Amino acid sequence: MTTVIKNGTVVTADLTYEADVLIENGVITEIGPNLKGDEELDATGCYVMPGGIDPHTHLEMPFMGTYSSDNFESGTRAALSGGTTMVVDFVLPGQGQGLVDAMKGWHNKSTMANCDYSFHMAVTWWGEKVFDEMPTVINDHGINTFKHFMAYKGALMVNDDELFASFNRLAELGGIAMVHAENGDVVAELTAKLLAEGNTGPEGHAYSRPSQVEGEATNRAIMIADMAGVPLYVVHTSCEEAHEAIRRAKMQGKRVWGEPLIQHLTLDESEYFNKDWDHAARRVMSPPFRNKQHQDSLWAGLQSGTLSVVATDHCAFTTEQKRYGVGDFSKIPNGTGGLEDRMPMLWTHGVATGRLTPNEFVAVTSTNIAKILNCYPKKGAVLVGADADLVVWDPEKEKTISASTQQSAIDYNVFEGHHVKGLPRFTLTRGHVAVHDGEMRTQEGHGQFVKRPGNGTVNRALSTWKELTAPRPVERTGIPATGV
Ligand code: URP
Ligand code: ZN
Ligand code: ZN
Ligand code: ZN
Repeated sequence: MTTVIKNGTVVTADLTYEADVLIENGVITEIGPNLKGDEELDATGCYVMPGGIDPHTHLEMPFMGTYSSDNFESGTRAALSGGTTMVVDFVLPGQGQGLVDAMKGWHNKSTMANCDYSFHMAVTWWGEKVFDEMPTVINDHGINTFKHFMAYKGALMVNDDELFASFNRLAELGGIAMVHAENGDVVAELTAKLLAEGNTGPEGHAYSRPSQVEGEATNRAIMIADMAGVPLYVVHTSCEEAHEAIRRAKMQGKRVWGEPLIQHLTLDESEYFNKDWDHAARRVMSPPFRNKQHQDSLWAGLQSGTLSVVATDHCAFTTEQKRYGVGDFSKIPNGTGGLEDRMPMLWTHGVATGRLTPNEFVAVTSTNIAKILNCYPKKGAVLVGADADLVVWDPEKEKTISASTQQSAIDYNVFEGHHVKGLPRFTLTRGHVAVHDGEMRTQEGHGQFVKRPGNGTVNRALSTWKELTAPRPVERTGIPATGV
């Protein structure tokens, strides 16, 4: 059974051209004019693009005394509905738990996925077991990215000495370091002070995590990564201070990538001052939403290339779960959803406004991600031999975002009421048409794990450079006698 996408315009990160796309056994087998297939999908008036890759999700994640409410079934269904065909989720080992053991738990949870997925590993504690298992995780299990939390003191946070030890190990093994960059010590102090002063509502969450704490941690992580000689990926970059640090590092030739979220690009801090407690608490996430100046900085980063990708950090909690924090904002489970809305929101606020070209849209939602995470061109490409993870994007299709029509399991949507123009007509996951002109045809369990090997090209270049510029003793011709 072959499928052909006909009459569309192929849009990749670097090219725009008219062609049909033929798919066989889940893979693209031909791109060109007048192709024939058993099943035909009409893409007249549409762009045929690589499906989105969301590099940052937390599906069924144990966090803050509960579990995030979208699992791998509802989460990947939401993803496909919005044109995303691959998600990368974080394995979170418990304190003292081995990396491989934790990873098995994630593999068990993800068998229900509707689209392909991969994992990042989190380094939530440091010790010999973690050190010893890192090579297995990279070389045998195809996970080359390791996230470190510089925040969530007393839970997931690791200190600078642990960061440095882990980054050194990753440099040696050809892995990529990731950081959640906020100064966790300062956040903990500010939180205690705010609560003591009676600032217990959700707005306290924003006050406790100002942009300075993110900027400082981003600078610190960049310095530690540079000392270790490891590439660094900064997740959920939300403010100018963090962007500035990344921009400066890039200008200095350092291998650093920044990942703004669609939420930070389009929603602002005024949400936390809403009179409705539920409204504000539903938007509590770390880092918090920022003001318009920070948003402008993030958009400029995408336009100039100093920020590389757009993610969601999809970590969806119901209103009931958010209410764990009534009377104490520090107990509101941190996280927001966005998997279904990332692509339409970015198209509407990015491409339709002229901030991004369609090719740049493909780059930041898919191709750059596949390249950085080392799964390109299996993913993130419209090329013969690539997986047929594709979205047939209709720039004229519109809707108003509403929880009442979403795929996500939660009872609200942080983008409720936003009008989007630009939506999938078809979404294909390895050739299977999971979204067919508004109709969901997902197959639970269709998703496969995507291995991402270590030692990608950036690792190799960086280790060559670090070796070349490493400190060396000077060969001296004469050494003076030690004086007595
Ligand atoms: O608030 C957030 N971002 N929740 C998910 C966990 C994390 O920090 O990425
Ligand atoms: Zn985080
Ligand atoms: Zn996250
Ligand atoms: Zn909007």
